[in-house]
Amino acid sequence: MAATEITKEQWAVSESYIAKIKEDNALFAIQNGRARLAHTETYGCQQNVNDTERIRGMLSKAGFEFTENAEEADLIIYNTCAVRENAEQKVFGRLGILKHMKESKKDLMIAMCGCMVQQEHITEKIKRVYGHVDLIFGTHALWRMPELLYRAMHEKGVVVDITPSDGAIAEDVPILRDKEQKAWVSIQYGCNNFCSYCIVPYVRGRERSRKPDVILNEVRNLVANGTTEISFLGQNVNSYGKDLDCDVDFSDILRMTNEIEGVKRIRFMTSHPKDLSDKLIYTIRDCDKVCKQLHLPVQAGSNKILKEMNRCYTKEEYLAKIDKIKKEIPGIALTTDIIVGFPTETNEDFKETLDILRYVRFDSIFSFIYSRREGTPAAKLDFVLSEEEIHKNFNELLEVQNQICKEKNLEYEGREELVLVDGESKTNKDCMQGRTDSGKIVNFKGSHDLTGKYVMVKITKAKQWSLDGEIIGGEN
Ligand code: 5AD
Ligand code: SF4
Repeated sequence: MAATEITKEQWAVSESYIAKIKEDNALFAIQNGRARLAHTETYGCQQNVNDTERIRGMLSKAGFEFTENAEEADLIIYNTCAVRENAEQKVFGRLGILKHMKESKKDLMIAMCGCMVQQEHITEKIKRVYGHVDLIFGTHALWRMPELLYRAMHEKGVVVDITPSDGAIAEDVPILRDKEQKAWVSIQYGCNNFCSYCIVPYVRGRERSRKPDVILNEVRNLVANGTTEISFLGQNVNSYGKDLDCDVDFSDILRMTNEIEGVKRIRFMTSHPKDLSDKLIYTIRDCDKVCKQLHLPVQAGSNKILKEMNRCYTKEEYLAKIDKIKKEIPGIALTTDIIVGFPTETNEDFKETLDILRYVRFDSIFSFIYSRREGTPAAKLDFVLSEEEIHKNFNELLEVQNQICKEKNLEYEGREELVLVDGESKTNKDCMQGRTDSGKIVNFKGSHDLTGKYVMVKITKAKQWSLDGEIIGGEN
């Protein structure tokens, strides 16, 4: 059964509130000689980044302008993450600071949204301890933000909407994107996998796929506005389409996007290994615009732990897929996610995770120490290892992988790579920065007007986390 969509009538209600806020904001601008300013902060994954772009889209339509500086904002919105406890602690810390800010600036509005507040116990805590928060809305209420914000602007007390939804998709929400050359395009929301450690299925609901024509139209519109790199987003893109009434899977979406004139690069994340088909491997191989890069989270190396994590594959099955990918697409860049210190993990289990790293030789990994999430099955398990042992293992993991990263980067020295220029380098103001097809960061000397363009770069030096290079020409 395909997911329902927010109806035109429902969205019209949101639009009417956007118009009302716009009127308020116009009056504010006359009285204060400046526009009302909003400040957004995003925690967590790319899905949240994409959701913030929607929030900014709605705010912009309602007449808000934006500021990077929270201190000068009239509205502060935190789009939060619930995947690990430290992300939640960071937000609570920030809320503490905002309390003081609000004391000296009575009209400041504070809003919280996203996965963290979709959990009832968290919202209860915010209401109890952080009385200066004006608005709380969960992941399912994003499209209703205009109405909720309007109410929060006019009512006393906190406005809350964290009702779990029936999984409806809101297609009409406007998007204000950060970059022109690159865009995230969500193809699916939610997750059905219920990995035993993970909170995502509880806060984002069941898997819902967007319709293929809606996705492809979004891509065409982006290209018409100058975007050349498309990154498809979903918790498990490999199961895209299973809930649709038509016979289109993720490989088909990639192939159809590959045909769109003006698209130059296609990336995607995240793939669940259990659903990675041969068809997808051949599609990545055969489509010239699909970047030769794959993020395939393994999480752990021991079959016992994989089973307890409810990952639905064995180490052998994972490695067989990796072998097949490497055979079909030589040189493909592989990345993964690893969790260290799952409750029942022993030192022997952990050694099997190290074996996987040494065997696959990932280009890079995202590694996390297990974080207990209330309401998930793993939260009931007792730990085998002490905190100290888990940290020791985590450090060993980093050591092993750092060496592999450096060696993988060294393979690039002397190569000529096509790089899409992102802008000024984050580490060196005198340099520009961009990415290779495989996703490696390259720093090189060049002018700012190269941003958004493709340049050929000769790699001169491999570093731990990036490459240095020099421009040898424009795009062929
Ligand atoms: N603790 C630690 N890491 C987690 N992840 C998901 N849930 C947890 C948790 N409870 C990691 C997984 C996932 C990535 C996005 O976050 O590795 O792939
Ligand atoms: Fe969480 Fe597993 Fe779904 Fe990824 S696939 S979001 S780890 S439940």
